[in-house]
Amino acid sequence: MSLHTRTKRLTVPQLVAMKGQQKIVSLTAYTSSIAKLMDPFVDFILVGDSTAMVGYGRSSTLDMSLDEIIAHTRAVVGSTRQACVIADMPFGSYQESPQQAYRNCAQVLARTGCDAIKLEGGAVLAETVEFLVQRGIPVMAHIGLMPQYVNAMGGFKAQGMNDATARAIEADARAHLQAGAFSLLLEGVAEGLARKVTEFSPMPTIGIGASLACDGQVLVTEDMLGLGGDHVPRFVKQYADVGALISQACEEFAAQVRDGTFPEPKHCYGVN
Ligand code: KIV
Repeated sequence: MSLHTRTKRLTVPQLVAMKGQQKIVSLTAYTSSIAKLMDPFVDFILVGDSTAMVGYGRSSTLDMSLDEIIAHTRAVVGSTRQACVIADMPFGSYQESPQQAYRNCAQVLARTGCDAIKLEGGAVLAETVEFLVQRGIPVMAHIGLMPQYVNAMGGFKAQGMNDATARAIEADARAHLQAGAFSLLLEGVAEGLARKVTEFSPMPTIGIGASLACDGQVLVTEDMLGLGGDHVPRFVKQYADVGALISQACEEFAAQVRDGTFPEPKHCYGVN
């Protein structure tokens, strides 16, 4: 059965305990209406910085502020009861130093009530992960294709496609595990690498464009609902065409207003 009827929100330790027992399901959300709809079906909701692109129409995830992530995460936490909620730390809010990361992550946790944070970065961020974890902040480490590194990567490209780069990503994974990350998010890496990391990692791996070998999957909700615009990655399966439904509803409304059939008399105040 894919519908959950949890009486309490899934915790980070419970999410970790799912490794090897059942696949972990996740989607992104940044509004209360969407979060509420997905809550019974997913294990965790990621308030991703992909919101910058799919929600605000910006060209990358770099342009996302801490206040924006906090506002969206509050909306998601406030409208859900079952799923664990993980907030994505925006570009520039944690890379400078472990202390800067702690200050900002603590704000996110305290002001939103979310369960954990996610940050992007290779082994160079392991010291920061350790600093946060030792101070009570659960961290999901995002490695492989890291959208916040779009300028350094020269675009959104699959990563670890040769032996040397695959070894580097493996080293990133090991460094984050050693530092205490409770989960690894693997984006845009080949199946062989995802399988290897999933096998040696005692913590769950969550894949996006990283094959079925991972312990769980996450998708950007707009992409799987047909609301992703022009940049939907090839690996995304579209489960519904909500975009077409919205267009159809808007078209019908516009036509009714223009031809005078809106509103229907039975929907008018004062009509019995
Ligand atoms: O911001 C985001 O939506 C992400 C995806 C990889 C899920 O980080």
